[in-house]
Amino acid sequence: MSKNNLITVKLFDVELGRLGFDPDKSISFFQYNSQYLQSGMYSRAIPFVIKRTETTQVFKAYGNETFRGLPPPIADSLPDMFGNKIFNEWLAATNRNLSAITPLEQLAYVANRGMGALEYEPAKTLPKNSAIDIQGIINVLEQVLNDKSQASGPALNSSELLNIFKIGTSAGGARPKILVSENKATGEIIPGDLAVTDEYAHYLVKLYLPEEGYGYNKEKVEFAYYQLAIRAGINMMSSKLIDDKHFATLRFDRQHGEKLHTLTATGLTGWDFKSPEYSSYEHLFELAAGLRVPHKDIQELFRRMVFNIVFANTDDHLKNHSFIYNKDENSWYLAPAYDITYPLNINLKYTHLNRALSINNKRLNIGIADILKIADQFTIKNPNGIIEKVTATVSDWEQVGNDIGLPGKVISGIGSAFVML
Ligand SMILES: Nc1ncnc2c1ncn2[C@@H]1O[C@H](COP(=O)(O)OP(=O)(O)OP(=O)(O)O)[C@@H](O)[C@H]1O
Ligand SMILES: [Mg+2]
Repeated sequence: MSKNNLITVKLFDVELGRLGFDPDKSISFFQYNSQYLQSGMYSRAIPFVIKRTETTQVFKAYGNETFRGLPPPIADSLPDMFGNKIFNEWLAATNRNLSAITPLEQLAYVANRGMGALEYEPAKTLPKNSAIDIQGIINVLEQVLNDKSQASGPALNSSELLNIFKIGTSAGGARPKILVSENKATGEIIPGDLAVTDEYAHYLVKLYLPEEGYGYNKEKVEFAYYQLAIRAGINMMSSKLIDDKHFATLRFDRQHGEKLHTLTATGLTGWDFKSPEYSSYEHLFELAAGLRVPHKDIQELFRRMVFNIVFANTDDHLKNHSFIYNKDENSWYLAPAYDITYPLNINLKYTHLNRALSINNKRLNIGIADILKIADQFTIKNPNGIIEKVTATVSDWEQVGNDIGLPGKVISGIGSAFVML
């Protein structure tokens, strides 16, 4: 590994190892820090994919868009579609573009700002953040996302763009989002990359951009789904609407004033969430079992699967499921549910509603027999009780939607997609 092209990967102030990258071949090299290996500390932090050996490991099989050549647990720290758009716009402001920087350089920008607790050094230094103004951020985002021809990067006010760059590129996913921290005593909102302390509540905020073209507020729909999921007994972080339009959810990777190490199912395994190959609930259950999560988490996963079927959340892909590492116990458990929503536009007609994760090899027309087969395979206790509780929540939909102020057309449009098992 050439020395000038290395980045150090850290977790809880411990150096896990160093990563190198060959941009010509899009392959990476990882070498564990021998002290870390020998100490036995946090030994299950990277449970699969990277072997616990002192020799340098080469990662050749991950050259696609999802992993960009990096070992999957590290690729989890890179931005996804929305983050990369912002990243690109920000680079354009300095006359560069994403294809000209390596994923290692991108990790140096992620630095200590990433989701979860993995950190990268040396970090690229950036000017200090300015205060948060959500409306100002939205104005800039609207230019960036919707009006490319008129507002290219250099034309945008660089301090606003820098702010969005710092708090808008860490979280994955396709939709516009930022990370903010809210002072518990004063309510003041600051950029999400400044404080990890318990004085603040740390939120991931999915922003409502009216120009996006659905004709209704998808963030409000997600808030309604959050309420349904809670009623169905699903574990989610406490969430709320900001200004009655943006969906804000407490971060599960920032709790009690600490960073928690989290990885998505894709990051843990190298199973590409965009490819059907491993995209099944069976694989997700096997992963949970392989991580030795408590059995109640397997029950919870089953409940989420049933919820996603009944409430037509077909976008239940492998990056929409995460696990959290307990550093004191050196063990893993299932993260709270997130991205639970009606993913489609009610104003469009869809002919094939293929579910991201298959069940019993099916992505369409999944029925009770398929669900019970999974229950049997993964020794779920009282599956019928879980199914009953989830399906009973369907009758709450109209009330929940009305209370939030969703238009009747949206409530009925979404309601007509529900599946009564
Ligand atoms: N409450 C949370 N705490 C910590 N991390 C979260 C939380 N909610 C989401 N995330 C992380 O942020 C990423 C993006 O969030 P989310 O999946 O809700 O966005 P999205 O843009 O709707 O995604 P998609 O592209 O799947 O539609 C998730 O993959 C997850 O890693
Ligand atoms: Mg998502």
